[in-house]
Amino acid sequence: MLRITVFPDERALAKQEAGRVAAALAAKPDLVLGLPTGRTPVRLYHELGLLGAHGQVDFSRATTFNLDEFLGIPWSHPGSYRAFMEQHLFSRVNIAAERIHFLDGAALDPDAECRRYDAAVESAGGIDLQLVGIGTNGHIGFNEPARELAGRTHRVTLKASTRRSNAALFGGELASVPSEALSMGMATILHARQIVLLATGKSKARCIERLVKGPLTTKLPASFLQLHRDVELVLDQAAAEFL
Ligand code: GLP
Repeated sequence: MLRITVFPDERALAKQEAGRVAAALAAKPDLVLGLPTGRTPVRLYHELGLLGAHGQVDFSRATTFNLDEFLGIPWSHPGSYRAFMEQHLFSRVNIAAERIHFLDGAALDPDAECRRYDAAVESAGGIDLQLVGIGTNGHIGFNEPARELAGRTHRVTLKASTRRSNAALFGGELASVPSEALSMGMATILHARQIVLLATGKSKARCIERLVKGPLTTKLPASFLQLHRDVELVLDQAAAEFL
Protein backbone atom coordinates (compact mmCIF):
# COMPACT_ATOMS: atom_id res chain seq x y z
CA MET A 1 0.00 0.00 0.00
CA LEU A 2 1.23 3.48 -0.82
CA ARG A 3 1.64 5.63 2.25
CA ILE A 4 2.11 9.34 1.68
CA THR A 5 3.85 11.86 3.89
CA VAL A 6 3.97 15.52 2.89
CA PHE A 7 6.48 17.97 4.35
CA PRO A 8 6.23 21.75 4.18
CA ASP A 9 9.58 22.01 2.38
CA GLU A 10 12.66 20.14 1.21
CA ARG A 11 14.65 20.95 4.31
CA ALA A 12 12.12 19.42 6.71
CA LEU A 13 11.87 16.39 4.44
CA ALA A 14 15.64 15.91 4.32
CA LYS A 15 16.02 16.16 8.11
CA GLN A 16 13.23 13.69 8.74
CA GLU A 17 14.57 11.17 6.20
CA ALA A 18 18.12 11.45 7.53
CA GLY A 19 16.62 10.59 10.92
CA ARG A 20 14.88 7.58 9.36
CA VAL A 21 18.13 6.26 7.88
CA ALA A 22 20.01 6.85 11.15
CA ALA A 23 17.28 5.04 13.11
CA ALA A 24 17.24 2.13 10.65
CA LEU A 25 21.02 1.80 11.03
CA ALA A 26 20.74 1.96 14.82
CA ALA A 27 18.13 -0.82 14.76
CA LYS A 28 20.12 -2.93 12.26
CA PRO A 29 23.77 -1.86 12.02
CA ASP A 30 24.40 -4.16 9.03
CA LEU A 31 21.51 -2.63 7.08
CA VAL A 32 21.56 -3.03 3.29
CA LEU A 33 20.61 0.30 1.78
CA GLY A 34 19.65 1.05 -1.81
CA LEU A 35 20.55 4.58 -2.81
CA PRO A 36 19.58 7.04 -5.55
CA THR A 37 21.38 9.94 -7.14
CA GLY A 38 19.88 13.14 -8.57
CA ARG A 39 19.08 16.56 -7.19
CA THR A 40 16.41 15.23 -4.81
CA PRO A 41 18.56 13.28 -2.30
CA VAL A 42 21.33 15.91 -2.09
CA ARG A 43 19.91 17.58 1.02
CA LEU A 44 19.24 14.23 2.65
CA TYR A 45 22.87 13.23 2.07
CA HIS A 46 23.96 16.58 3.44
CA GLU A 47 21.92 15.97 6.61
CA LEU A 48 23.40 12.46 6.94
CA GLY A 49 26.87 14.01 6.62
CA LEU A 50 26.03 16.39 9.47
CA LEU A 51 24.75 13.53 11.63
CA GLY A 52 27.92 11.61 10.75
CA ALA A 53 30.12 14.50 11.83
CA HIS A 54 28.39 14.46 15.22
CA GLY A 55 28.59 10.70 15.62
CA GLN A 56 24.81 10.45 15.32
CA VAL A 57 24.74 7.96 12.47
CA ASP A 58 26.89 4.87 12.10
CA PHE A 59 27.49 3.42 8.63
CA SER A 60 30.44 1.28 9.72
CA ARG A 61 28.65 -2.05 9.17
CA ALA A 62 26.21 -0.87 6.49
CA THR A 63 26.20 -2.08 2.88
CA THR A 64 25.02 0.13 0.02
CA PHE A 65 23.90 -0.51 -3.54
CA ASN A 66 23.30 2.38 -5.88
CA LEU A 67 20.50 2.13 -8.38
CA ASP A 68 22.29 3.02 -11.57
CA GLU A 69 25.33 4.34 -13.41
CA PHE A 70 26.13 5.82 -16.81
CA LEU A 71 27.64 3.45 -19.34
CA GLY A 72 30.95 4.25 -20.98
CA ILE A 73 32.53 6.34 -18.22
CA PRO A 74 34.71 5.16 -15.32
CA TRP A 75 34.06 5.94 -11.65
CA SER A 76 36.87 8.50 -11.79
CA HIS A 77 34.85 10.59 -14.27
CA PRO A 78 33.40 13.63 -12.45
CA GLY A 79 30.00 13.07 -14.12
CA SER A 80 29.69 9.48 -12.86
CA TYR A 81 27.10 8.68 -10.22
CA ARG A 82 29.91 7.04 -8.26
CA ALA A 83 31.70 10.41 -8.11
CA PHE A 84 28.42 12.08 -7.13
CA MET A 85 27.94 9.67 -4.23
CA GLU A 86 31.53 10.08 -3.10
CA GLN A 87 31.11 13.83 -3.02
CA HIS A 88 27.70 13.99 -1.36
CA LEU A 89 27.70 11.02 1.00
CA PHE A 90 30.46 8.43 1.05
CA SER A 91 33.27 10.85 1.87
CA ARG A 92 31.22 12.30 4.72
CA VAL A 93 30.21 9.22 6.70
CA ASN A 94 32.07 6.23 8.16
CA ILE A 95 31.07 3.75 5.49
CA ALA A 96 33.52 0.93 4.68
CA ALA A 97 34.71 1.18 1.07
CA GLU A 98 34.41 -2.57 0.56
CA ARG A 99 30.70 -2.48 1.36
CA ILE A 100 29.89 0.22 -1.22
CA HIS A 101 28.46 -1.51 -4.29
CA PHE A 102 28.19 0.24 -7.62
CA LEU A 103 27.59 -0.69 -11.22
CA ASP A 104 30.79 -0.20 -13.22
CA GLY A 105 30.01 1.94 -16.25
CA ALA A 106 33.41 1.10 -17.71
CA ALA A 107 32.88 -2.66 -17.55
CA LEU A 108 34.09 -4.38 -20.73
CA ASP A 109 31.11 -6.72 -20.66
CA PRO A 110 28.09 -4.67 -19.50
CA ASP A 111 25.74 -7.66 -19.48
CA ALA A 112 28.09 -9.64 -17.25
CA GLU A 113 28.39 -6.56 -15.04
CA CYS A 114 24.58 -6.50 -14.63
CA ARG A 115 24.55 -10.18 -13.66
CA ARG A 116 27.39 -9.59 -11.20
CA TYR A 117 25.38 -6.80 -9.57
CA ASP A 118 22.20 -8.85 -9.14
CA ALA A 119 24.28 -11.65 -7.63
CA ALA A 120 25.91 -9.17 -5.23
CA VAL A 121 22.49 -7.89 -4.09
CA GLU A 122 21.43 -11.49 -3.56
CA SER A 123 24.50 -12.45 -1.58
CA ALA A 124 24.10 -9.40 0.64
CA GLY A 125 20.72 -10.86 1.61
CA GLY A 126 18.65 -8.40 -0.46
CA ILE A 127 17.99 -4.72 0.12
CA ASP A 128 16.40 -3.71 3.44
CA LEU A 129 15.63 -0.08 2.69
CA GLN A 130 15.57 1.20 -0.87
CA LEU A 131 15.44 4.96 -1.38
CA VAL A 132 14.40 6.06 -4.86
CA GLY A 133 13.83 9.30 -6.69
CA ILE A 134 11.54 9.72 -9.67
CA GLY A 135 12.20 11.22 -13.09
CA THR A 136 9.71 13.76 -14.44
CA ASN A 137 8.66 11.06 -16.95
CA GLY A 138 8.02 8.57 -14.14
CA HIS A 139 11.27 6.61 -14.39
CA ILE A 140 12.82 5.01 -11.33
CA GLY A 141 16.52 4.22 -11.39
CA PHE A 142 16.96 4.38 -15.15
CA ASN A 143 13.89 2.28 -15.90
CA GLU A 144 12.48 4.51 -18.59
CA PRO A 145 8.85 4.44 -19.84
CA ALA A 146 8.63 1.76 -22.55
CA ARG A 147 6.38 -0.97 -23.90
CA GLU A 148 8.18 -3.47 -21.69
CA LEU A 149 10.19 -3.08 -18.51
CA ALA A 150 13.17 -5.20 -17.50
CA GLY A 151 13.02 -7.16 -14.27
CA ARG A 152 16.69 -7.44 -13.55
CA THR A 153 19.68 -5.15 -13.74
CA HIS A 154 20.17 -4.26 -17.38
CA ARG A 155 21.54 -1.91 -20.00
CA VAL A 156 19.29 1.03 -20.99
CA THR A 157 19.19 3.68 -23.70
CA LEU A 158 18.39 6.98 -22.06
CA LYS A 159 15.55 9.24 -23.22
CA ALA A 160 16.49 12.70 -24.45
CA SER A 161 14.59 14.26 -21.51
CA THR A 162 16.55 12.14 -19.02
CA ARG A 163 19.85 13.09 -20.65
CA ARG A 164 18.84 16.75 -20.45
CA SER A 165 18.01 16.52 -16.76
CA ASN A 166 21.42 14.94 -16.11
CA ALA A 167 23.37 17.47 -18.19
CA ALA A 168 24.43 19.47 -15.12
CA LEU A 169 26.72 16.58 -14.14
CA PHE A 170 28.51 17.02 -17.47
CA GLY A 171 29.11 20.77 -17.32
CA GLY A 172 25.70 21.47 -18.87
CA GLU A 173 26.82 19.80 -22.14
CA LEU A 174 24.01 17.57 -23.38
CA ALA A 175 26.33 16.01 -25.96
CA SER A 176 28.63 14.83 -23.15
CA VAL A 177 25.88 12.93 -21.30
CA PRO A 178 26.27 9.21 -22.08
CA SER A 179 23.45 7.81 -24.18
CA GLU A 180 23.30 4.57 -22.24
CA ALA A 181 23.31 3.47 -18.64
CA LEU A 182 23.11 0.40 -16.42
CA SER A 183 20.21 0.23 -14.01
CA MET A 184 18.69 -2.06 -11.44
CA GLY A 185 15.52 -3.52 -12.93
CA MET A 186 11.98 -3.24 -11.64
CA ALA A 187 12.12 -6.58 -9.81
CA THR A 188 15.47 -5.76 -8.23
CA ILE A 189 13.89 -2.59 -6.85
CA LEU A 190 10.57 -4.17 -5.89
CA HIS A 191 12.29 -7.00 -3.99
CA ALA A 192 13.56 -4.51 -1.41
CA ARG A 193 11.85 -5.04 1.94
CA GLN A 194 10.96 -1.36 2.28
CA ILE A 195 10.88 1.39 -0.35
CA VAL A 196 10.85 5.14 0.21
CA LEU A 197 10.30 7.36 -2.81
CA LEU A 198 11.44 10.95 -2.44
CA ALA A 199 10.01 13.67 -4.68
CA THR A 200 10.22 17.41 -4.38
CA GLY A 201 9.22 20.34 -6.54
CA LYS A 202 6.50 21.23 -8.97
CA SER A 203 8.09 19.34 -11.87
CA LYS A 204 7.27 16.04 -10.09
CA ALA A 205 3.64 16.87 -9.22
CA ARG A 206 2.03 15.37 -12.35
CA CYS A 207 3.93 12.08 -12.24
CA ILE A 208 3.21 11.76 -8.51
CA GLU A 209 -0.48 12.27 -9.28
CA ARG A 210 -0.33 9.52 -11.94
CA LEU A 211 1.60 7.24 -9.60
CA VAL A 212 -0.98 7.62 -6.83
CA LYS A 213 -4.21 7.80 -8.82
CA GLY A 214 -3.42 6.09 -12.11
CA PRO A 215 -3.23 2.46 -13.27
CA LEU A 216 -0.14 0.28 -13.41
CA THR A 217 1.51 1.06 -16.70
CA THR A 218 4.92 0.61 -18.24
CA LYS A 219 4.46 4.20 -19.47
CA LEU A 220 5.02 5.23 -15.86
CA PRO A 221 7.50 2.72 -14.41
CA ALA A 222 7.04 4.15 -10.89
CA SER A 223 3.38 3.02 -10.99
CA PHE A 224 4.64 -0.53 -10.29
CA LEU A 225 5.48 0.61 -6.77
CA GLN A 226 1.74 0.20 -6.13
CA LEU A 227 2.42 -3.56 -6.06
CA HIS A 228 4.73 -3.33 -3.05
CA ARG A 229 3.48 -3.84 0.50
CA ASP A 230 5.71 -1.30 2.15
CA VAL A 231 6.17 1.85 0.11
CA GLU A 232 6.10 5.39 1.37
CA LEU A 233 6.03 8.46 -0.83
CA VAL A 234 7.80 11.30 0.90
CA LEU A 235 6.93 14.59 -0.76
CA ASP A 236 7.17 18.30 -0.32
CA GLN A 237 4.05 20.39 -0.84
CA ALA A 238 4.92 21.27 -4.42
CA ALA A 239 5.22 17.61 -5.47
CA ALA A 240 1.95 16.81 -3.65
CA GLU A 241 0.00 19.59 -5.37
CA PHE A 242 -2.37 17.32 -7.33
CA LEU A 243 -3.12 14.74 -4.64
C1 GLP B 1 18.10 10.39 -12.71
C2 GLP B 1 18.36 9.12 -11.89
C3 GLP B 1 17.17 8.73 -11.09
C4 GLP B 1 16.61 9.94 -10.38
C5 GLP B 1 16.09 10.93 -11.38
C6 GLP B 1 15.49 12.17 -10.78
O1 GLP B 1 17.82 10.15 -14.04
N1 GLP B 1 18.81 8.02 -12.66
O2 GLP B 1 17.53 7.70 -10.19
O3 GLP B 1 15.58 9.57 -9.52
O4 GLP B 1 17.14 11.29 -12.24
O5 GLP B 1 16.46 13.13 -10.53
P1 GLP B 1 16.26 14.44 -9.73
O6 GLP B 1 16.23 14.06 -8.29
O7 GLP B 1 17.46 15.27 -10.07
O8 GLP B 1 14.99 15.05 -10.18
